[in-house]
Amino acid sequence: MLTVKGLAKRLPDGKPLLRDISFQVEKGEFVAVFGESGVGKTVLLRCVNGLTAPDSGEVVINGDGGPQRVNGKTGKELRRLRRRIGMIFQGANLVKRLSVLENVMTGRLGWINPSRSLLYGFTDQEAERALEALEKVGVKHLAFRRAETLSGGEMQRVAIARALLQEPYLLLADEPVASLDPKNASAVLDCLKPLTAQMAIIGVFHHLDIVRKYCTRAIGIRDGVVAYDGKPDVPRDVLNAVYGSEPRAWPVAAGQ
Ligand SMILES: Nc1ncnc2c1ncn2[C@@H]1O[C@H](COP(=O)(O)OP(=O)(O)OP(=O)(O)O)[C@@H](O)[C@H]1O
Ligand SMILES: [Mg+2]
Repeated sequence: MLTVKGLAKRLPDGKPLLRDISFQVEKGEFVAVFGESGVGKTVLLRCVNGLTAPDSGEVVINGDGGPQRVNGKTGKELRRLRRRIGMIFQGANLVKRLSVLENVMTGRLGWINPSRSLLYGFTDQEAERALEALEKVGVKHLAFRRAETLSGGEMQRVAIARALLQEPYLLLADEPVASLDPKNASAVLDCLKPLTAQMAIIGVFHHLDIVRKYCTRAIGIRDGVVAYDGKPDVPRDVLNAVYGSEPRAWPVAAGQ
């Protein structure tokens, strides 16, 4: 599904951020990426979906059309590849003045003719699919509300519904539950987990208790390389190594 090989990225000042990142992800996996703040997790996700170009290395998506390299592609070709990569950000990035349903339908923008998408001219069939996606994540009743009136957890679920309309092979979720209370966080994660039946999910998480409960695998990044790639029940000595030796820096739930 996804192969990242020898990926490297320097900061604009020339300092190396990601030095040599390699991993492979298959459909069915729910992979957590973890590591200290500033280590390059968001930059890594951006490289995976082609928003940021790596300096070297490869990002290859293996979908219907066989293996295709994301980096190096531009314009139409990149757009075609990216429409099958869903992305949810912290804060959901909904268009606040549009209705929930309209927000979800924008998930189809990568698929439809640009002249039509300019006018946001969606068909009834697209609206129906958007309603189905909202139902799947449990917020169909909010379809005609303006996005700005939703709670954070509701917004995240709408963002997932929007990503579903892309029919992604791969869903990238950058701290999708970081701003949510535990109840809303669970609701969002309960929506995400079953989606791995159709796709691979890579999420950035800071709470290792979430990783243990929901993910199938964890990848720890330190000093620009993969310092851990294994079970979601990350051993304590690994946490020590990935986050440094100060126990208080461990982003684990209280009482652990
Ligand atoms: N466009 C940019 N220009 C300059 N520096 C950047 C740019 N994008 C990212 N950085 C820097 O790269 C480093 C890694 O950023 P990134 O957002 O990937 O970190 P992160 O691991 O996601 O951290 P967090 O857990 O805080 O979200 C940071 O020091 C950030 O300031
Ligand atoms: Mg980040």
